[in-house]
Amino acid sequence: MTAARLARRACLAALAATAGCAPRPPAPVPPAPPTLAAAYRGAFLVGAALNEGQFSGRDSAGAALVAAQFNSVTPENVLKWESVHPRPGVYDFDAADRYVAFGERHRMFVVGHALVWHGQTPRWVFQDSAGNPVSRDTLIARMRDHIHAVVGRYRGRVNGWDVVNEAVADDGTLRRSPWQAVIGDDFIALAFRFAHEADPAAQLYYNDYSLENPAKRAGAVALLQRLLAAGVPVAGVGLQDHDRLDWPTAAAEDSTIAAFAALGLRVMITELDVDVLPRAVPQTGADVGLSAAARPELDPYASGLPDSVQQALARRYAELFGVFLRHRGQVARVTFWGVTDRDSWRNNWPVRGRTNYPLLFDRAGRPKPAFDAVIAAADALRTGS
Ligand code: G3I
Repeated sequence: MTAARLARRACLAALAATAGCAPRPPAPVPPAPPTLAAAYRGAFLVGAALNEGQFSGRDSAGAALVAAQFNSVTPENVLKWESVHPRPGVYDFDAADRYVAFGERHRMFVVGHALVWHGQTPRWVFQDSAGNPVSRDTLIARMRDHIHAVVGRYRGRVNGWDVVNEAVADDGTLRRSPWQAVIGDDFIALAFRFAHEADPAAQLYYNDYSLENPAKRAGAVALLQRLLAAGVPVAGVGLQDHDRLDWPTAAAEDSTIAAFAALGLRVMITELDVDVLPRAVPQTGADVGLSAAARPELDPYASGLPDSVQQALARRYAELFGVFLRHRGQVARVTFWGVTDRDSWRNNWPVRGRTNYPLLFDRAGRPKPAFDAVIAAADALRTGS
């Protein structure tokens, strides 16, 4: 309140006192609406994956919601190989520059996603001009050039990188990706070393889905143990957590976080969402290669989510955040894969064109009961439970 108004109020109060009538108490200032970042301050960062609309001015409501609720951002697509390096020798950093600038403008922990992945990587990367597979040395050089160009451009501005994404298969062995086929198993260590060369201060992560499944978890733990034993600069592991109402169990999530924390790695929940629709494929997780045909019974909530499911989603998120809170100090960040239900990739995977409700904000950007449940779960922080 300005000095002038204070003076005027004091004068009015003095006047009222002489006139014998009590000054009206100041109107109560409504409490600031709760935010995810504030509720979990001191425990872990809370972030969101952004699509281009949110940091390019097209979706100003989405941008405002992000700035208000989160303290970390991840690019859903614009830092992937096909976006920044579509053709040999051709880089396009336009959208990525705007993403990083948005993160800086809002004082966010800025994540880069993803440098080396089998998805959204153009075919030319693995082939020569005649379409034949390139040699090991050629692909290593292409990987090194790409990582130095991308990580180097945002040196000191991107705080952490998903260096290698989804390199472990569901049975725990290394995925037979073009990277593994052409270079060999050491493509992973090479990627981390190149990223560290390009920005020694950036945190470097291994990121994957369904690590809550025992065979895949064991394979990833063994991989990370080998990398750490070889002095490869891995700072953390990202559990994507593309979850369901009934998968993974709280116990599986608990033991998965514990297993990676025991390696001395910081653990992040990097792509959190909870699918509320009927299963369309038997697999859990997020294998982008999977798809299924649309059937009416697979899209039961196109005209709205029943309150019973809304409440089940709220209980599910409270359960998950209860686990994350029990591991505060090991879990450094929890990032949602999208901002509102409208933005979510889950509307188009594994069946295109469904109406899903996997996040905390509805299609109009309004907080859902699940949001209230996540905010309430943070009370444990203050009660020390
Ligand atoms: O950019 C083209 C656009 O030019 C074209 O008009 C449009 C037509 O469909 O497609 C656009 O490309 C889409 C791209 O997202 C950018 O929006 C692709 O079709 C679409 O397949 C792609 O989906 C992304 C998916 O990764 C691809 O693998 C999702 O948005 C993104 O959420 C998802 O994210 C992955 C993580 O990176 C890794 N973990 C799993 C997660 C979910 O699959």
